[in-house]
Amino acid sequence: MTHWTIAMETSLEDSLPKIDTTQNQFEKIPCQVFDHARDASAAVASRIANLMRLRQEEGRNCVLGLATGSTPVGVYNELVRIHKQEALSFANVITFNLDEYYPMNPDALQSYVRFMNEHLFDHVDIPSEKINIPDGTISKHDVAEFCARYETLIELNGGIDIQILGIGRTGHIGFNEPGSSKKSTTRLITLDRVTRTDAAGDFYGEENVPRRAITMGVGTILSAREIFIIAFGEHKASIVAEAVEGDVSSIVSASFLQDHPNACFILDRAAADSLTRNHCPWLVGPIGWNKYLIRKAVIWLAQKQKKPILKLTDEDYNEEGLQDLLADHGAAYDINIRVFRQINSTIAGWPGGKPDEKKMPGDRRRPHDDIFPKRVLIFSPHPDDDVISMGGTLIRLVDQGHEVHVAYQTSGNIAVFDDDAIRFCDFMADFNKAFGVAPKKASKLEEHIETFLRHKKAGQVDSPEVQVIKGLIRQGEARAATRMCGVPESNLHFMNLPFYETGTVKKKPLGERDIKMIVELLEQIQPHQIYAAGDLRDPHGTHRTCLRAVLQACQQVEKDDWYQQCTIWLYRGAWHEWEPHEIDMAVPLSPNEVMLKRNAIFKHESKKDRAVFPGHDAREFWQRAEDRNATTARLFDSLGLAEYEAIEGFVRWEGDVSFL
Ligand code: F6R
Repeated sequence: MTHWTIAMETSLEDSLPKIDTTQNQFEKIPCQVFDHARDASAAVASRIANLMRLRQEEGRNCVLGLATGSTPVGVYNELVRIHKQEALSFANVITFNLDEYYPMNPDALQSYVRFMNEHLFDHVDIPSEKINIPDGTISKHDVAEFCARYETLIELNGGIDIQILGIGRTGHIGFNEPGSSKKSTTRLITLDRVTRTDAAGDFYGEENVPRRAITMGVGTILSAREIFIIAFGEHKASIVAEAVEGDVSSIVSASFLQDHPNACFILDRAAADSLTRNHCPWLVGPIGWNKYLIRKAVIWLAQKQKKPILKLTDEDYNEEGLQDLLADHGAAYDINIRVFRQINSTIAGWPGGKPDEKKMPGDRRRPHDDIFPKRVLIFSPHPDDDVISMGGTLIRLVDQGHEVHVAYQTSGNIAVFDDDAIRFCDFMADFNKAFGVAPKKASKLEEHIETFLRHKKAGQVDSPEVQVIKGLIRQGEARAATRMCGVPESNLHFMNLPFYETGTVKKKPLGERDIKMIVELLEQIQPHQIYAAGDLRDPHGTHRTCLRAVLQACQQVEKDDWYQQCTIWLYRGAWHEWEPHEIDMAVPLSPNEVMLKRNAIFKHESKKDRAVFPGHDAREFWQRAEDRNATTARLFDSLGLAEYEAIEGFVRWEGDVSFL
């Protein structure tokens, strides 16, 4: 298969506004980092819209290479908005999608044909004959010919003008998994294990994810005249850094974009986190030092030198490129002491404050310490995040005499196996039989379970009744777990926020009702401390939505008297801990508290042994939690601070509205 060379386009096209990009000595692909994913999507959509308009004026077609997945959804939303509000026509647009699972029926929930129709094509005036998506229904025998035709069709249409890409955690573009060659063309490919794990959520279990896909090749992609590779969220940060700053290699297909003259990465802040410009900005050039950056640099230096902070010398600073810091802020000795004291002051064995302790000036971990006991409200996005992510602190708060409430924001019902639901229904049926309970009503439900659950197909959405049953299973588990921690049952609030209740992985947007329910709970409890899951940089997902709901509700009550004495602490979701320089409060746990926390997590039986959405970490939640808390403790120890069994970290939210 021959590929055309990237033709220099007319000067008219060159005059279209470009997305500004920057690049430093470490970066081999230009990058543009946006504060918000929505701004990034709007910039890409606007570039596409401009080219479409120019092509219309010229009476030519505009050929777009399109991707699916969570990343480009914002671009498609914005294109639909421009189509509707600014009369952008798609009549002259020809599209080629990157890939499709194989085999795949176009009507299936997970089909990329369906995805494209739902997110873009059904909402714009594109003629259906101009849409091209690899066909997941053709026989294996015909796949090779189909793929060759796909390449020819792209070529016959003059090649792709703008190609949109996402990046998988394997570094794939399209479904070009590690090992794909630079010259590869459209073909059938076997999906990597990591890719299948990541897709498990969409397919209700990894076992249902197809093993193969048809994908455009790396060569096909590189033939596009302009490429935007988009990545949002911290889970993309390390692979983005590898693709942008690492060597060109078939291990990371996206690194081949380093050889493209007109490719750029479009990132939000989280996805750009591991680039040297953010990870170690002092290595890129002179920076304006502040308290936060100094703390970050000193911890980085101590870890790099494998020394406790107080043992770092001027030579260490100089050797690792931190001479600038010494020049601006004094000798190593002074900087070490300052940073050491700062970190030491974050360690709080009394997370709610000691009864008779007075607030220390400048001590950020003990605001309003004269209030004792405190009313504490812990928001848990799913029914198990409270104990997994801050179980030790929860236990301490109860033990230390505070009034602890837990609000479970969502039912978490989609993460329960059908088997478990059947088991509980069997119990219910036996119970009803044993006690002769309302046989008429009970048998109707039993019949439904029998016909629905026992014959459910992989990926089929649960009926409303089954959703309720699964939600109740999780509710019971949450109750058992918090009972272990000593929280009275009257202090548990099962909110079942409406945005979550779709029965599918895709949720509704956050609505007024969601916020109102949280405002009402806040006004009822009037907490002195709020704890919320602070996955600040994850642009998708339930945790992020739940956090936005809490913060938006807090904005609505911020003038209330009680709120003036309220502090908001963010714990990290189930997967990661805060970076050590970010932690404002470090709650140490004793070995006994670690055990209690483990037992509380065990109560979430439907998540034990095997989770429906395991993510990319095969360990059970209690193992991840313990490992993460022990790692933080070891890290504090290695920096020369006190040595604890485990530590849970929290960041204080001080009104940064950019997270809303
Ligand atoms: C989708 C595709 C994939 C995705 C990548 C990222 O058509 O080809 O390469 O772009 O897996 O997926 P998300 O955006 O869901 O993280």
